Amino acid sequence: MINLPKDAYTSTTWFEKEQEKIFEQNWQFAGFTSDLNEAGEFLTVQVGRINLIVVKGPDLKIRAFHNQCRHRGTQLLRTCGKAGKALTCPYHDWSYSLEGDLLSVPQQREEFPDLDKKMLGLHRASVSIWKEMIWVHPEPAPEPLTDWLGDIKGLVGPHRVEELIEDPDSATEHEIKANWKIVAENYIDGYHLAHLHSATLNMYAHQQQECGFVGKHFAFYEPLTDKYADNLKEMSPLPPIDHFTEEQPLGAYVPLIFPNLGIGASESSWSIFHIIPLAPNLTRVITRTKVMPASGWAYFRQSQRSNNAFASMSGKYAEGTSPDDPMQSGDFMAEDIFACEQQQKALNSPYFSVGPTAQNQEASVRDFQSIINLEMEQ
Ligand SMILES: [Fe+2]
Repeated sequence: MINLPKDAYTSTTWFEKEQEKIFEQNWQFAGFTSDLNEAGEFLTVQVGRINLIVVKGPDLKIRAFHNQCRHRGTQLLRTCGKAGKALTCPYHDWSYSLEGDLLSVPQQREEFPDLDKKMLGLHRASVSIWKEMIWVHPEPAPEPLTDWLGDIKGLVGPHRVEELIEDPDSATEHEIKANWKIVAENYIDGYHLAHLHSATLNMYAHQQQECGFVGKHFAFYEPLTDKYADNLKEMSPLPPIDHFTEEQPLGAYVPLIFPNLGIGASESSWSIFHIIPLAPNLTRVITRTKVMPASGWAYFRQSQRSNNAFASMSGKYAEGTSPDDPMQSGDFMAEDIFACEQQQKALNSPYFSVGPTAQNQEASVRDFQSIINLEMEQ
């Protein structure tokens, strides 16, 4: 749109090429370590054109395999759940150990007299853990996750994720009628924060934002407003994070791990914002949030306090005609979804064009598009 053609946001050809050139070539977020607690528990994740299984073995090690039976290529496992001691293909009952080795083939002696089981283990993929997140890569020996992340590792906030607990009730899932890059660009666009979210994110000092790309990944920090910082105990919607440091002080750390995992690490919570492309004009976003461990009573008290402090908070447009107007929702996610869908719709007009963009606060969007271009050319 600035550095990318309109086609990049609308065409199936672009979308499919991105799956191959971007999603299959980069590490992808697959879930939290807490999703796989016992041996046999598994989840599946789509990485470009490839479906992967992530499974906990009898040794409690997490491994990743291509979700394809070596017999006829059928998908072995569906979504998530618990396999027994083996992964069995529903088609002809070929079964594999949780370590990916072929265990048994029905009627092997009569039908497959020369079968070499050792050659027919599941295709191996890679798995790595960072901050309690499971990351996968379809290749057996890609660039290690820690190298691929590089310096962004030190710029995502001091949050000790292993000490926080997930609040499952706060998880959200949205289908947004926009290309995944519009959603990612909105996530890293620092210019809209003070405007689209003038009534919903006004606890942050947007004019003091510090951000930029570190390799392919995007770092973003902004402090709290003085008023909010001074009254944090009363105003925070949740018990505040208690381990900010001098190097990584109180505030909001909102990086985007390339190309599609946003992290929102704030004064009171730590969230992931997982952008999943479904079609050129359709994107699923899943959010999951971790918070300080505290008793239910502490949370109740905190939310009561915060409700009082924010009693005046509404939406961008306080008055209007429709009660379900996202601009009146007081929910910044609803505001972002509205903006993304409007942006996608605008692409249909033959009069669509992009005017001048903000030198500093929209540099992120231009840089993101340049990186997409580079990846697509490789
Ligand atoms: Fe936003």
